[in-house]
Order: sequence, then C-alpha cells, then structure tokens
Amino acid sequence: MKVYHVSAEYYPAAKVGGLADVVGSLPAYQSNLGVDTSVIIPKYGTPWFESQAYETVWASTFWYPDETVSFSIQRVLDEARTEALYVIDIPGKFDRAGVYSDESGYYSDGAERWLSFQRAVLDWILHSESRPDVIHVHDYHAGLIPFMMQYSYDYGPLKSIDTVYTIHNQQYHGAFGWDRQYLLPAFDTWKSGLLDWSHMINPMAAGVKCAHRVTTVSPSYLRELKYDASGLEWLFEHYEEKCVGILNGIDPLVWDPKADHYIDFHLKKSVANFKKENKKKLASHYHINPKRPIVSFIGRMVDQKGADLLAEAMTQMLSEEQPMSFVILGTGDAQLEDQFRTLQGQYPNSTGITLAYNEGLAHRIYASSDFLIMPSRREPCGLNQMYAMRYGTIPIVHHTGGLIDSVVPYDEDQGTGIKFDELNTAAVISALHTAISLYQNKESLANTINHCMEADFTWGASSKKYIELYEGIK
Ligand code: GLC
Repeated sequence: MKVYHVSAEYYPAAKVGGLADVVGSLPAYQSNLGVDTSVIIPKYGTPWFESQAYETVWASTFWYPDETVSFSIQRVLDEARTEALYVIDIPGKFDRAGVYSDESGYYSDGAERWLSFQRAVLDWILHSESRPDVIHVHDYHAGLIPFMMQYSYDYGPLKSIDTVYTIHNQQYHGAFGWDRQYLLPAFDTWKSGLLDWSHMINPMAAGVKCAHRVTTVSPSYLRELKYDASGLEWLFEHYEEKCVGILNGIDPLVWDPKADHYIDFHLKKSVANFKKENKKKLASHYHINPKRPIVSFIGRMVDQKGADLLAEAMTQMLSEEQPMSFVILGTGDAQLEDQFRTLQGQYPNSTGITLAYNEGLAHRIYASSDFLIMPSRREPCGLNQMYAMRYGTIPIVHHTGGLIDSVVPYDEDQGTGIKFDELNTAAVISALHTAISLYQNKESLANTINHCMEADFTWGASSKKYIELYEGIK
C-alpha cells in the first residue's frame, strides 16, 4: 500500500504545534509496518530547508486568473529518514520566514497559499507514474484536496484514490469568500454546496464532507465535536459513520529520558535521581527553590489553551505565598505575555518565565518539573501531557478531549495525573492545592510518577488503527 501524507507541518522541518510532531512520527511507524509512506509539505524559507540537499522530481505551472504559479517538487535526500519527504517549492508563496506568520503578523494571503500547495500536490500526482492508494490530508490547509479530487475536471483521473482527512484542530477552518472561487480549478458547480458553510468556501467543512474517512486525534474530541464545533456540529452528526477518533502517539526516540540530547541528566537506574538532578539544574537556571514543587506550562498563550486561567491562578497562589514555583514557556497573546512578565517581576524567586519557542528548553522542562499543567478549554489530543509522563512529570489537566483519553486521575495506588472538571480559576487553584498535597505524600508521589513512566503512548496501536482504516475504505 502506498500512502501520501499532505501537511503544513512536519517535525523537524517546520513545527508550530503538535501537528508537526504527529506528521513527523506516524509515517515512520507506518513504513515499519510495510506501508510505502511519503510526506509532502511546502518548502518554507526557514533555516532547516536551507540546510538540506534536494533532488527535483517534477516542475510545472498553473494559473490563477491574474497570476502564473510555478512550482517544483523536490525530494529531500536523507538516507536516515524511514519515510520519503517531498517539499513543494512555490516561489512567492512559501519562501518566507514563517509557516503561518512572521514578526509582522499572520500572512493575509492564506487562501492563495494553501490552494497553490494543494493544486501543486494534485498536479504532480496526476502526472506521476505511480500514484498512491491513499492520500491522507491533515487539517484545513489540505482540506480541499478530497473535493478537488472528486469534482475538479482536471483531476478526474484521481477520483479512484482513497482519501482520509485528519482533524488536529477543528477551530481553524481557513474559510474564504466565494469571490475567490477562481482559486480552485474548474469544478462541477452542482457540487458547490460541498464547499460551502455559512456562505463561505470552508476547507474544514469540505474536508469532512468529501473525504472517504475523517479522523480526529482522540475519541473524546470526536464526541465533543457533535455538540461543540464552532458551528459545524451538525456535520459531525451527519457524517458520523465515516468518522473515527484515533489517539495520537509520540515518538519514543525523540522523547527518551535515557538518551534525549537536550536534557542535562539521563535516566539511569533511579527515577528519583533523574528527577532530582534535572530539577536542580532548571531551578538554578531560573533562580527558584528546588525544594518546592515546580508546576510548568508549555504552549501557546491563547484562549484555547487556558493560559489566562493559569495566569489568574498563579497570581493568587503566589500572592498567598503557597509553597510552589511556576515555569512558563511559550508565546502568544501580547496581553497574556505581559501578565506573565509582570508575575516574573513580582515573584522572581518563584517563577521562571521564557516567552519564546524553544524546543530544547521544552525537553529540559519536561524532565525537570514535578507537574505539567494544561488548563485547556479544548484539547483535540494534546501531546505535552504524554511527553511529561514519559519524563516522570505528573500532568494536571482539564477534563476535555484527548486529555480525557490519556490521563487517569490518581488515587492511593493507581492513576497518572490530576484532573479538574470545571473550567474556572477556582478549579485550577484547587487542582494546584491537590498537587501540593500529592507532592508532600512521598509514597503516592513516587507511585504516580512510576505509573506515568510506565504508560505506553508510542504509536504501536494507533498506527495499526490507521492502516486498518485505510484498508477498510473499499
Ligand atoms: C493540535 C491540537 C493538539 C493535538 C495536535 C496533534 O495542535 O491542538 O491537541 O495534540 O494538534 O494532533
């Protein structure tokens, strides 16, 4: 079986969020199971792409009414990679400093960019000798591919290829006005309704309507989408039969406490030592007290991740001088960043705040913290809780989406984390108090850490589920 993954992100080439980690790890597992797997992403103008060697495999041109779009398909030459990686060079569209944005903000020509990427993918497949059996597209950036394969006249010969659409985050739809319908190659206009949602062309909705199978990155998230999907609820009810939730896995080679090259101390025999030594190092980096529990947050400071609730809870905990320190790593809303900066100024000995994206520091924080907090309002899967557990850091999570499916509330002798149901500052504060008590109970603490580290979040089971899904399409 031959499978092409089409995605905006891929670790380590282009990472903004968890999408990159998933597309950067699932394909290797599929290859190991005997599937001929390739990944196709845009060629961005970022340093990783400059450092690679390429072989151009195809080049062509297509036309928007007022623009000629030239592109080339380049295979990345790297013997070490299990799956094949192709990048699409589209000058003017992707040779920029960021994936979705740069320091001057989000790119305003998203529709033109993602359509050019998707059309280039399909033009290439149309002209290549060996076509895939399955095209597996990820998130809205590739969500129009199933529609175009079915209903654009140019792509008629691709109709028989199976399509799978995976939703990593349903909040972003990539919708644009019908006045830009000309970005798509001519299609059967009787089918326009399949592109439409609320009088816009909506790639997220079109992906759900037109793909042969739709997956979400956890089973609980799929259940939630039926009653809360920013207006698309009905779609998930209506297409229920072709939708399935498959929990993400993580790459155990990238996230390996015994060999992770980012961290200061590797896990040898004693978990307690591993935690203690790494924690000492992080505590001295941020000038915080290593005797107190460290609760960390890693991620985007946006509404979805509940960083605002955390900032409020921290303000209260720190003003009451509760025995706890906080480490924060991420970027996002300017106002939230300011709030964290202020807390750092007020409580320099109990906070370590880094307002940046820093992959290496993230690894060190997972290895060094006692707890990782995720007060997410919505969490399609969440990978951070899995990374944390692998490094013996106990997750504190809101009961939502993939956090429901991956964290088991702790009690005397089982469970892996602390969960809260309500979503408000008081609930976050109460969970933090639970963390302080757990930290003081050395036996329960050690047991919970062990359960976390024993949990298996590798791709083993989930990668097989995807293959069964592909096989079941016919
Ligand atoms: C998105 C989701 C996150 C998920 C990731 C990978 O970033 O917000 O929950 O884990 O995609 O699927």
